[in-house]
Amino acid sequence: MLDVSVSSPLHRQLQGCSLYLIGMMASGKSSTGRLLARRLGYRFADTDTVIEQVTGESIPRLFEQIGEPGFRALETQVLRAISQHHSLVVATGGGVVVQPENWGILRQGIIVWLNIDRDQLLMRLDADNTRRPLLQTANPATALDTILEARLSLYSEADLQITIGAENLNEVADQILKCLSKQFRSLRDLTLLQTTAR
Ligand code: S3P
Repeated sequence: MLDVSVSSPLHRQLQGCSLYLIGMMASGKSSTGRLLARRLGYRFADTDTVIEQVTGESIPRLFEQIGEPGFRALETQVLRAISQHHSLVVATGGGVVVQPENWGILRQGIIVWLNIDRDQLLMRLDADNTRRPLLQTANPATALDTILEARLSLYSEADLQITIGAENLNEVADQILKCLSKQFRSLRDLTLLQTTAR
């Protein structure tokens, strides 16, 4: 397991910069995020949970009452409020990537895409009893495919992409931390290269 104690290089390099987890519904943003936050000594926030707390309504009820546009507006407000804090791992809702203005907020931190293939997603969604308003159709698999197709190019704008297969949560968290360390190493090498070239 990668060391991310307060004295570890990765911890110092992050300097309290928040991590934003993006990806499709059921890709494990909340469960991975909670674990990652614990390992980093960061706090954890979940945009859907905050939306439910501030409105006192469930996500499906909000979709019924104010529709997707109303929900998206709330999501942006909540994301903006969360971004005022540092040292956070933030699990976002799967659709956070569709609002262009959200990208300006997400870019204040490091954006990590949890990429899982559609068959795995379908299996996870089947096993998960969270009600997803966008999948309440006669054919949820077709709805998922349409959403995936529309979002794939957006998710791929993330700073880091973590492809998830059969790994458990700890292994996914480890993969993210290793990927972050590697990025910082490349950045340091690049800086060294630029300094010696001068
Ligand atoms: C949505 C994903 C959900 C929730 C809402 C819309 C989406 O969050 O925000 O139902 O558009 O993909 P999860 O990704 O946590 O399921």
